Amino acid sequence: MSAALDVEGLCAWYGSAQVLFDVALDVQPGEMVGLLGRNGAGKTTTLKCVMGIDAHRSGAVRFEGEDVAGLRTESLARAGIAWVPPDRRIFTGLTVLENLQLAARARQVRLDLDLLVDNLPILGRLLDRRGYALSGGEQQAVAVARALAGRPRVLLLDEPTEGLSPLVVEELRTAFVQLPSAFGIAVLLAEQNLQFVLSLASRVAVLETGRVAYRGSATEFAESPDLQHRYLSVSSERSRLD
Ligand SMILES: Nc1ncnc2c1ncn2[C@@H]1O[C@H](COP(=O)(O)OP(=O)(O)OP(=O)(O)O)[C@@H](O)[C@H]1O
Ligand SMILES: [Mg+2]
Repeated sequence: MSAALDVEGLCAWYGSAQVLFDVALDVQPGEMVGLLGRNGAGKTTTLKCVMGIDAHRSGAVRFEGEDVAGLRTESLARAGIAWVPPDRRIFTGLTVLENLQLAARARQVRLDLDLLVDNLPILGRLLDRRGYALSGGEQQAVAVARALAGRPRVLLLDEPTEGLSPLVVEELRTAFVQLPSAFGIAVLLAEQNLQFVLSLASRVAVLETGRVAYRGSATEFAESPDLQHRYLSVSSERSRLD
């Protein structure tokens, strides 16, 4: 079976500055893979390169075995790759329900509201709320729900826990546990919150100044303070849920 998402030899430049060097990673169907790395390591750029946004890039990006490196962002979204950027981008003037309806319509799929609410229970009480009246955690849940409303097969999440309190992060974590199986999706989760990633992902890739410094099982990484220290300089202060 082909990987849901497969990146190989990915290089990226902003202007003349190269920021990704030969990045390789894959996400299998139904799997969640963590993309770790310090500030500026290249996590966001990697996700943007998959979506064909911003940076100039070279290398292979395959979606379910098909080369999609040449496709435009809109075509990738239509094909089934959804991207939730760190700033979430909810339509603030629309209600949550309208945000979800719009996302389903854009992908020409029926909105399965029950499935979304079952898996992201916080949505239940937010459906009539307008985007501008949501807290950070609520916005994040809605942004993920909106991505899922389009029934993607690959979901790219960029720092979903950024700016959220530990309690809200824990709520999100509980909801995220079942996302791959409930929605039949592969998830690439870019995060600095190590504990969040390790509790959700089966495998991790760690970026260090634009290169993959480590690729392996989340369990192995979780059990090795040495690996964590070597690649992330993790201290109790950086590991936000400790
Ligand atoms: N639009 C841009 N123009 C020029 N350089 C950029 C741009 N966006 C990012 N960079 C640079 O590319 C490198 C990788 O940045 P990127 O945003 O991918 O890192 P990141 O791992 O997502 O970091 P963070 O954890 O802070 O979000 C950094 O050196 C950054 O300064
Ligand atoms: Mg980033």
